[in-house]
Amino acid sequence: DKAGFKHFMAKEIAEQPSVLADALGAYLDGESINIPSEDLDFNKVDRLTLVACGTAYYACLTAKYWFERLAHLPVEVDIASEFRYREPPVLPGTVALFVSQSGETADTLAALRYCKEKADKIVSVVNVETSSIARESDLALPIHAGVEVGVASTKAFTCQLNVLLLLAIKAATARGIMPESDAAALLAELRALPGLFNAALDRDATIEKAAKQISEARDVLFLGRGLMYPLALEGALKLKEISYIHAEAYASGELKHGPIALIDKTVPVIVMAPHDSLFDKTVSNMQEVMARGGKVCLITDAAGAAQAGEGVWQVITLPAVDERLSPLLYALPAQLLAYHAAVAKGTDVDQPRNLAKSVTVE
Ligand code: F6R
Repeated sequence: DKAGFKHFMAKEIAEQPSVLADALGAYLDGESINIPSEDLDFNKVDRLTLVACGTAYYACLTAKYWFERLAHLPVEVDIASEFRYREPPVLPGTVALFVSQSGETADTLAALRYCKEKADKIVSVVNVETSSIARESDLALPIHAGVEVGVASTKAFTCQLNVLLLLAIKAATARGIMPESDAAALLAELRALPGLFNAALDRDATIEKAAKQISEARDVLFLGRGLMYPLALEGALKLKEISYIHAEAYASGELKHGPIALIDKTVPVIVMAPHDSLFDKTVSNMQEVMARGGKVCLITDAAGAAQAGEGVWQVITLPAVDERLSPLLYALPAQLLAYHAAVAKGTDVDQPRNLAKSVTVE
């Protein structure tokens, strides 16, 4: 049931405020995170290996920043189809964590089976609780996104981020890196996020206008730094899979190491840059793009727009958010941009060509 929306994807994007609130509620017990230490004791963990495919892989890349920054925990992230055939050593003290919406992705399941008997613990972050990946894990953490029908993952991505962030906060307090009071403050910000999601969804008309113009391009670049880099990758994947527009993402700092050669007035460049500690760096990359005639669509907040919005082709202004939470909020405009570009192109949004919701063959 599309609940009055034209596509399941539109419905699944729009329901994220309530889905996230519920998903968070399922893990919070007052101020404490409901993941028992008997199940996962971060004091005994030396490193994490995160493995997944596609959008779930980008959730893992985001989580690397969180686990490293908040919990000082070393993290490796890998694409399941690469990990499984490389015979990577899995050292004692490793927790292997697999992220999968369907819980049936063949490569992710094979990577999980490879880690059995090698890793100290197999943890999965899944949407389908009865799935193979959930069943074969020592600990399966549901993301509580509800059924996702659109082939392009949207609410599952934000709910995967939610569980991964909770795990990082749990690790940070268990390892004594983050005081309980700081964790409580961050959780309070997280509880407020559904309200900010609503404010982001209110920018729909502006995003649609930008998306219509972007839909005319042959190639689109996404740039981001820090936590916004995995999100740029996710934005590019979303755009290419449903609108069939060629889109690539780069870490902003990599621009001058090659991709800047692509820039001309026909290439829209989506810059994802909240006004955070890395903002000035990203803006200087953005200005390099503009100096070469590139058309920039800047996704930022009011402070960012005031500082750098001048002369920019399109500005999408989101509410300000704690910088550690920005990937969750900035996922929404990335999804809406792809959605509206696909609608403008008239593609089959919920069933894009050549793609399946669950990839059970490698
Ligand atoms: C992109 C998308 C895919 C999946 C990938 C992994 O929108 O949906 O990239 O994220 O196929 O699927 P799961 O999470 O089911 O393992």
